[in-house]
Amino acid sequence: MNTDRPLEISSLSKSFGPVTVVKNFNIRIAPGEFVALLGHSGCGKSTVLSIVAGLQTATLGGIVLDGVEVTEPGLERAFCFQSPCLLPWLTAFHNVLLSACQAHPKLTAAAQKELAAKYLSLVGVAEYAGELPAALSQGTQQRVAIARALAQEPRFLLLDEPFGMLDSLTRFELQDLVLDLWEKDRKTVIMVTHDIDEALYLCDRIILMTDGPEATIGLDLRVTLPRPRHRHQATSHPEYQRLRDRIIAFLESHSKQFATEQEAA
Ligand SMILES: Nc1ncnc2c1ncn2[C@@H]1O[C@H](COP(=O)(O)OP(=O)(O)OP(=O)(O)O)[C@@H](O)[C@H]1O
Ligand SMILES: [Mg+2]
Repeated sequence: MNTDRPLEISSLSKSFGPVTVVKNFNIRIAPGEFVALLGHSGCGKSTVLSIVAGLQTATLGGIVLDGVEVTEPGLERAFCFQSPCLLPWLTAFHNVLLSACQAHPKLTAAAQKELAAKYLSLVGVAEYAGELPAALSQGTQQRVAIARALAQEPRFLLLDEPFGMLDSLTRFELQDLVLDLWEKDRKTVIMVTHDIDEALYLCDRIILMTDGPEATIGLDLRVTLPRPRHRHQATSHPEYQRLRDRIIAFLESHSKQFATEQEAA
């Protein structure tokens, strides 16, 4: 399999009943790119991401991976939701082990357990391996959910506002964790976020969506801040402020347009 080919979202449209939520969405994502999908609430970010994950189907167009259209979930794409969604009756270890077993059924039981332990340790929660999710903080649960996704050893990490439910200090910790993990093996990451600073700190590229219905790509911005990134250096870089201002101007102009349309209706 050629893993050097981009992931293509090609002429993607999605309608729910008579409403076309996303229309003619086109993008090519290079292997190893870290991309944010940013836009106002309800514009269709999760819809696009879930179609990439194969959890929903496109109405028109679609997703092309290694030259082949994909319409179903696959082990090469791992998804993390805003809420950790761990199985409450399984320990942290067994939640991750389940993913390792599903993704690597041919490994021996011992090797599957090794994988689970490796990823729990990589995300810094090995000490909680024997705990049920209810006994863990939201941040720790989200770390376990990330370990579960990684145990699949996917090429693509699809993250839908993965830190949206966390307090800001825990969010910073998890952003640094994801950045560290990405630096280690440069998986392709597509992350939906509302947080401009998170997108600027983590990503190579920020895709700004216009407001729906018929949302599409409004701006495709390159984030050329030097890597490896450190929060203070990144946020004090002149490029950071320039991009931030541009993103805010885009979001403000689109929300104004939306408000004007609402008033006129
Ligand atoms: N299954 C569905 N049936 C009908 N409408 C839907 C469905 N899923 C999403 N929508 C609508 O599609 C639009 C886009 O939803 P989506 O969840 O993708 O937006 P979003 O950008 O992720 O929003 P948020 O930032 O609030 O998470 C919304 O208007 C939503 O109500
Ligand atoms: Mg969403």
